[in-house]
Parts: sequence; structure tokens; C-alpha cells
Amino acid sequence: MKTGLRAPLIAGNWKMHGALAESHALVEAVRDGAASMSARVLLCPPSVYLTSVAGWLQGSRIALGAQDLSEQTGSGAFTGEISGRMLKDAGCEYVIVGHSERRALFGDTDARVAAKFLAAQFAGLVPILCVGETLEQREQGRTQAVVSGQVQAVLDAAGVDALEQAVIAYEPVWAIGTGLTASPVQAQEVHAMIRAMVAALNDTIASGLTVLYGGSVKGGNAGELLAMDDIDGGLIGGASLKADEFLAICGAASI
Ligand code: PGA
Repeated sequence: MKTGLRAPLIAGNWKMHGALAESHALVEAVRDGAASMSARVLLCPPSVYLTSVAGWLQGSRIALGAQDLSEQTGSGAFTGEISGRMLKDAGCEYVIVGHSERRALFGDTDARVAAKFLAAQFAGLVPILCVGETLEQREQGRTQAVVSGQVQAVLDAAGVDALEQAVIAYEPVWAIGTGLTASPVQAQEVHAMIRAMVAALNDTIASGLTVLYGGSVKGGNAGELLAMDDIDGGLIGGASLKADEFLAICGAASI
């Protein structure tokens, strides 16, 4: 059982799913079900629902996060963008940056992800930095190079001390929404590599760093993943939309 800074964290990434009424039902079920669990629980709904979800979560121990933010730290003529400060105002403590869908579909390069990471911390939010390789990159034996490059881009921009107030999520792209999960050993290997990379710069920060696994985590496979030394929780997509399934994962993280 991991404790302290690395007490298990289970984060639900709803992506662009749901409507207001069903989101309300989902939040109530998760809030009630997780009330007696020890795991740290976090919900990341679509931005327009953040304020509503914040209200529904009031008085609970579940935290709120956003799925993305602008790399702009001020205000200005940036139509459609949402700043870290606005997310903070809406009640967020966390924000996901560099999700593979943002990288693949919306042009989030390593440089922009690093800028978003900095913007999140500038606003007092904890960034959840997502990294992970595609199937092609894994088959070419480039997993470690790709993942360490993604982490390095943020280290170069923000410095190792910034990781004291951050979370990293390893999400192999081939496992996201596909039903394929990295085996516990495959995931552990990458998690250990990430932690070793940080440890080479600062041992204390590395040992307190929460590193989540994401990619088709469900109630049935959460326990074996969470049992690995360097897996400190999960970033959950599809299964976070079903209260029972999400609570089963939170339960596995609360043992
Ligand atoms: P999944 O998504 O659990 O549906 O695979 C994980 C994620 O994209 O964060």
C-alpha cells in the first residue's frame, strides 16, 4: 500500500462525453460510493460542466480537474481558449496536459505541452502530464526514447523542482480506448524508467512523484496494475463514465 504523497490517485477523464443530467447522476453515484474509500479521487469533466460539478462535489473529498488549458497565462484575444486562472476560479485543483488525443488531433507539440504545464502551475493548478508511445513506436523499440523525450521537454522548460507539484500519467496510445492494456510488467517498466529519470536529477522529488497509468483500466485489471511498485494510480477514460466500474477501480486503489 502506497501512502503519503503517493497515496493512490484515481482520475476520471470524461473526455467529450455526457450531458448535464447524466453527469449529475454520475457525480452523485461516484461521490456517494467513494465517500468511505481511502484513494484520492479526481473527476475531469468537460469544461462547461466544471462549475456544476464543483457544486455537486461540495462537501465531498473528490477533487476537480480540467482536461486541458490554454498556454496563455494572461487574458486576451484568444477566442475559444480557457486560461488556468479561469479553471482555478471554477474550482479546479488539477488539469490534464498533453493527452495523446490533444497531441494527435489538436497539434499539441512537446513545446506547447511544456507551455501548458507552466501555465497550469502559474495558475496554481497541478498539471497531470500525459506521455506515451504509439504502437508503431513500441514495435520499433522506441518506447523509452519517446516517453523520456516527452518528459525531458517539460524538464527542460520547467526544471525538476516543478515536478514536486505535478503528476505524470503514462498512457500508451495503443491502449487508450482500445480494450488493450499494457501488462503490469510493461507498464511498470516505463513507470520505473520515468521515476529513474527524475531521480537522476532529484531523488526526493522522484520518490514523492505520483505516476499514473492510463489505457483501458477497468475494475477487473486495476488491482494488478496498482500492485506494481511505481504505479501510483490511474487515469481512467471509458470506465470513468460508468459509476460502478469507476468505483470498482477506486475500491481497488483503496485496499
Ligand atoms: P481509456 O482512456 O481508459 O478509455 O483507455 C484513458 C485516457 O485516455 O485517459
